[in-house]
Formats: sequence, structure tokens, C-alpha cells
Amino acid sequence: MNIYTTTGTVIITCHKRTMPYLEQEVKELGYAIDETFVTGVRLKATVNECIRLNLNLRCASQVLYSLRSFKAVNADDVYNNLITYPWEDILPEPGYFSITSNVNNESINNNMYANLRVKDAIIDRVRDKRGTRPSTGSALTGAVIHLFWKNEDAEVFVDTSGDSLARHGYRKIPGQAPMLESLAAATIYATRWDRVSPFVNPMCGSGTVAIEAAMIATNRRPGLFRTNYAFMHLQGYDEQVYLQEDALLEQQIVEVPGLRIIATDYSARAIENARKNAVAAGVAGLIEFTVCDFAATEIPPNVPGIFYVNPEYGERLGEVAELEKTYSRIGDFMKQKCGGYFGYVFTGNLELAKKIGLKATRRIEFYTSIIDCRLLEYELYSGKRS
Ligand SMILES: C[S@@+](CC[C@H](N)C(=O)[O-])C[C@H]1O[C@@H](n2cnc3c(N)ncnc32)[C@H](O)[C@@H]1O
Repeated sequence: MNIYTTTGTVIITCHKRTMPYLEQEVKELGYAIDETFVTGVRLKATVNECIRLNLNLRCASQVLYSLRSFKAVNADDVYNNLITYPWEDILPEPGYFSITSNVNNESINNNMYANLRVKDAIIDRVRDKRGTRPSTGSALTGAVIHLFWKNEDAEVFVDTSGDSLARHGYRKIPGQAPMLESLAAATIYATRWDRVSPFVNPMCGSGTVAIEAAMIATNRRPGLFRTNYAFMHLQGYDEQVYLQEDALLEQQIVEVPGLRIIATDYSARAIENARKNAVAAGVAGLIEFTVCDFAATEIPPNVPGIFYVNPEYGERLGEVAELEKTYSRIGDFMKQKCGGYFGYVFTGNLELAKKIGLKATRRIEFYTSIIDCRLLEYELYSGKRS
């Protein structure tokens, strides 16, 4: 079977609470979704189609192509099943591969053991068929086989991505508490931004949100920054398919005349890093960077713009007292200076968010890998509300 041209079940994973935005992206690329779940979507596609998905999706983590589902009570069942799979048709010769897994089975208290049994099955099978032993390791730089095993239901996939797609590859200098690129992109999708009006991002830190906004408006895709994916390391890979998809990424970039993306931070170091990161992403010419207090940020008047801030959440008590004032000032600034805009505050501290003192029109749930977060939306009226 040539997995590049055979339609199979594909699971695209994402971070918790970003699924609706991933679903929308996948549909916009022309694929029908069969099922959605908390951390991903399921559809039908070939591995060649997975190439397009890998290069284009902003909210995804991995694109997994299913090889086989089976019942497994314990790790020996996994081994005994997988040694019957024709790995010699999937892995190139001499071949390097890695195993990843997501395991929740009562016989397993260490995922590494499940990974080891998958690895043993693949190596034993390939050695038996070819007389040579493929090499393995933890660096996701070659072929990647993924085991999903919940209770007695196991499914084995080729992970066509390898390293996570959630990092978009351009950002070189992280700064303080940077947002993950896939999360930043999902939160921008969640706003009411028309991708033409001004996008104003004070407290920009390393610039993730402003950079993602510039990339979304101009249709620059994460694949522009990455040259290695796991789909390149399987038998049957046709580089021409990748090169065509890659060339499309350049062709589909659009110019947005008059686009204004304004990014400020009171830290000169943050702005210096954000500017370097924007250069790496090829969007430095689209973002106006300034070192200033958030309240000195220019708000272009008489347009339905977006004001988006991601203030610190505060963990220590002294910090929280100081941040209460900052959140309250953000509320005052939005009310007094951002008439006609939609204001957004992305925060993991809902107590602090109360200090904003405005009524949120939406409270959109997100999750950093450890903190329950909200993107709070404020409709900011210009003049008197009728
Ligand atoms: C949580 S970080 C933002 C992280 C950013 N979203 C990223 O992905 O890198 C908050 C930023 O707000 C900045 N900041 C804090 N108080 C500020 C103020 N009063 N005016 C301007 N910037 C401020 C800090 O320097 C820091 O870079």
C-alpha cells in the first residue's frame, strides 16, 4: 500500500480549546471533517494531502495518518499485533525512526515501556524481512510512529509532522512568558478582526500576537519557515508533491494596502527582540514597533480596529497588587481611547480581569498547557450607545 496516495483516516491534534479554530482552518483548505473532539479533528486524506495540511495549518500540533486499530490489554498484545504489520513497506532503508505515544492503559505506568514494545516490534519485523536493523532515537528528525492507546483500544499512526506544528518556526528569541504561536493564532481567529482594519497590540512582549496577525492578514503560512517534516522520511515520498505545495505558499501571500499593525511594549529589550522575530518571520515591514507604556500607544481613530493585550497574570502577591492597577488602567484606556474598537484581554487570572471594570461581551475559553485562560472581549462604543 502506498500511503501517500491511499486515502485513510487522519487525526489532526491541537491544544485543548483550540479545536474550533483548527476545524475552521481545515475546512478552509477544502477538507470535510468527520468528527471533532477536545484536542483535534478526524477526516479522510492521503499522506500527500497531509503535506498540504502540515504546511498550512496554524492551529495544529500533529497530523497523524492511521495505519491500524486493534485491541490490546497489555504491552505484549501491542508487540504481537505490530510485528505483523508490514513496516518494511513504510520505513525507508536503512532508515531512522522515533516512537511517540499517548497511553492511558492500566497495565502501563510508564509510556516509555509502551514505546519500547512498539519499537521492538518494528525492529524485529524489519530485521526479519530485510536482514538489517533500522536505527532509532528520540529526535523527531526522521520517520515517526505514534501509538494512541486508551483502555483496550490501540491505534498506530505515522506522524507526518514530527516536531510539533504548534511552533511556527520563525521565532528565535522567546522573551518573558511568550505565547505559543498556535495559541496566539487561535486567539486572533477568535476575535472579530476583519484582517484589514488596524490591529493594535500593546504589551507585545516577543511579538507573537502581532507577528501572527501580520501572517494571518497576508496569508503567510507556517510552512514558509520549516524545511523538515516527518512525511519526508517514509517510503513512497515524492519530493515534487512537497515542492509544489511549498511553492504555493509563496504564491498565495497577499498584500493588504494600508494595513496597520501596531505593537508596543515598555521594555526596550522586548521591542528589540520582537523586531528581530518579525524580521525572521518576514513581516517586520508590516508592524510598527514603539517602546512606550501601553497607555501611550497610538489608536488610529474612526476605524473598527482591534485592541489586543496579553498582560502578565501575576503569581506573587506584590506583583498582583501592582497588576491590579495595570488591569484597571487597561479598562480606563479602552473606554476612553478605543471607541469603535473591539478590545481583547488575554489573561489567566480572572480575579485580575475583574479590575478592568468593563462588562465583557464574550469570555472565550483557552488553555496554555498549564493555565485556564480567557480571551475577554469588550465592545467599545464610540460616543453614546444608542
Ligand atoms: C505576558 S507578556 C506578553 C507576552 C507576549 N504575548 C508574547 O507572546 O511574547 C507582557 C508584556 O507586557 C509588558 N508590560 C507590562 N506592563 C506594561 C506597561 N505598563 N506598558 C507597556 N508594556 C507593559 C511587559 O514588558 C511584557 O513584555
